[in-house]
Amino acid sequence: MTVLRRHPDVHGAGLSIVEWRAIIDSAYSGAGHGAIRNVDEARGGHFDAIFVGGGSAGRFGAAVLRSLGGRALVLERWPFLGGSCPHQACVPHHLFSEAARELDQWQALQGRLWFPPFDPAAASILELVQLFRAQRSGPHAHMNWQSADQLGIEFVVNTEAEVLDTRTVRAAGRAYTADALVLATGSRAALPGIEGEGLPGVFDYASLVEDLDYEPRRIVVIGGSKVAVEYGSFFRAVGRPTTIVSRSALLTSGGPARMDADLRQFVVDGMRTRGIDVLEHSVATRIVGDGRVQGVEVLTPSGTQFLEADFVLLGTGEEAVTDSFADALPLRYDPRGFVAVDDRMRTNLDGVYAAGDVIGPPMEMFKSRRSGTTAARTIMGLDAEFHYQDIPDFLHTTYEVTWAGLTEDEARARFGDVATIQLPPRGMSPGDTPLPMAEGSMLYGFTLPERTGFQKCVIDPGSRKVVGIHHAGYGAKTAFQYLHHLMSRPAGLTIDELGDMNELYISSDYFVGYARLRANQATLTSM
Ligand SMILES: Cc1cc2nc3c(=O)[nH]c(=O)nc-3n(C[C@H](O)[C@H](O)[C@H](O)COP(=O)(O)OP(=O)(O)OC[C@H]3O[C@@H](n4cnc5c(N)ncnc54)[C@H](O)[C@@H]3O)c2cc1C
Ligand SMILES: NC(=O)c1ccc[n+]([C@@H]2O[C@H](COP(=O)([O-])OP(=O)(O)OC[C@H]3O[C@@H](n4cnc5c(N)ncnc54)[C@H](OP(=O)(O)O)[C@@H]3O)[C@@H](O)[C@H]2O)c1
Repeated sequence: MTVLRRHPDVHGAGLSIVEWRAIIDSAYSGAGHGAIRNVDEARGGHFDAIFVGGGSAGRFGAAVLRSLGGRALVLERWPFLGGSCPHQACVPHHLFSEAARELDQWQALQGRLWFPPFDPAAASILELVQLFRAQRSGPHAHMNWQSADQLGIEFVVNTEAEVLDTRTVRAAGRAYTADALVLATGSRAALPGIEGEGLPGVFDYASLVEDLDYEPRRIVVIGGSKVAVEYGSFFRAVGRPTTIVSRSALLTSGGPARMDADLRQFVVDGMRTRGIDVLEHSVATRIVGDGRVQGVEVLTPSGTQFLEADFVLLGTGEEAVTDSFADALPLRYDPRGFVAVDDRMRTNLDGVYAAGDVIGPPMEMFKSRRSGTTAARTIMGLDAEFHYQDIPDFLHTTYEVTWAGLTEDEARARFGDVATIQLPPRGMSPGDTPLPMAEGSMLYGFTLPERTGFQKCVIDPGSRKVVGIHHAGYGAKTAFQYLHHLMSRPAGLTIDELGDMNELYISSDYFVGYARLRANQATLTSM
């Protein structure tokens, strides 16, 4: 095992993933180490580009710049590369959402087949948080190892970077210079600014995984978009009474604003059926506590309510992290405080680029990665543009909910008439048919058909092109990213081409079988 000095220079050390993990664990716990440098000092301190922030935007951008023959330096305050996704955001969210799906199935099927009676004491929010906390440095170590050994990225981690001017960044007592800067410093939870939000027992997605040290018993979630719905669904699946307080209708802002109305209805009904209290058009006016949180005062359309709680989660959006460059650079920002860029990730300052969450929504991994790589390609003189307004999107409840393209309403507004393929068929209730039965919902198909999910494919009958796809169920994300790619080509994807795909499953998986039933129909009709 490599023993590290305080400011270790690890360039060329060939550290294994196990060694990286030990370094990360001790550095993150504060037990040792200042900056950890993987810099080829023989080449000096000047780079083609410096990436400030080593999350998905910075790391992927640096990798592509390097692939194109450039010299990249990544500066990162945590002792690892990869950023917030594996540390506090997507990865714990996916762990919790997978647990939510399993626990939901256990509750639904308890006493049937091999499922024992549901025992709320068997599942623990704290235990899952602790599991994540204890194991998260495994993926972190992999990313440090991969970045150093496989990608040849130079980096300094466990250090605060400070931008001095458009070409110079200070980190770990050194000034590094570059022909270009890429600001990739991410975002953090935006707090709503209500009385009591600083009380012990009030968390956001990051402090939940960093600080939780007790088992929550009664929960209030404030917010109405992805974080609120995903974490609220998880808490309820663990068996905790959970209320979501949303100032708009649930799932009508951020990415979910582009969900089809029928899909949203299916999802919200399903959450309510599972026992989540959803207060819409309601405002949390005060978080109450005496030393720690005791409840939340809420103004609802029917009056004021007091919701008891020993745990409150704030899922009220994100704001840009700009402290390392805001004073030094006269940048242009959008009205919400995100760095303004063009389609090539150029800011208003020559040679200064920005990528990832710091440039604003959508805040999704693919957008962070691709905006980082777009900046790198632009810097290296390639003709690179990235438009991220039309995207495939998803969230978790106890279902995986996925959507891409137009909603039925949007398609009607654009094309006049539309054809749809929908399951359960229009006019039927979810319990009227076991379909859509697919991978992951077979057990429900034969026990609780109302739980198998929802699918809708929207087609422009004139061009026969698929213009929207919408799904609640399991396992559609992968299919949708490819379908969206096909739909987005100039030629689009017609219903007839969809019906020509070779599906690997008997059921209605992602419309292929049903598209074949309708392919060749001269005048398309809905089914
Ligand atoms: C709860 C939650 C769940 C999510 N789930 C998903 C999901 O399932 N799928 C999905 O696609 N997206 C998901 N997202 C969004 C996704 O996590 C982000 O879009 C993505 O991680 C942003 O990457 P980034 O590189 O822009 O920022 P980050 O990953 O935050 O990277 C920024 C980096 O900059 C560093 N930094 C900042 N300032 C300095 C400084 N002065 N010096 C040195 N380093 C600095 C930070 O330490 C950080 O590592 C989720 C978000 C949240 C909040
Ligand atoms: N792909 C994924 O699965 C995933 C998962 C989690 C997060 N993310 C990303 O991470 C980002 C953050 O997600 P998010 O759900 O926190 O944010 P978001 O999508 O920006 O939504 C913010 C929510 O908080 C509400 N809100 C904002 N300020 C409020 C206030 N002062 N008081 C009460 N409510 C307030 C908003 O309500 P209004 O509608 O009334 O404004 C909205 O419901 C998003 O960009 C999201 O895409 C992605």
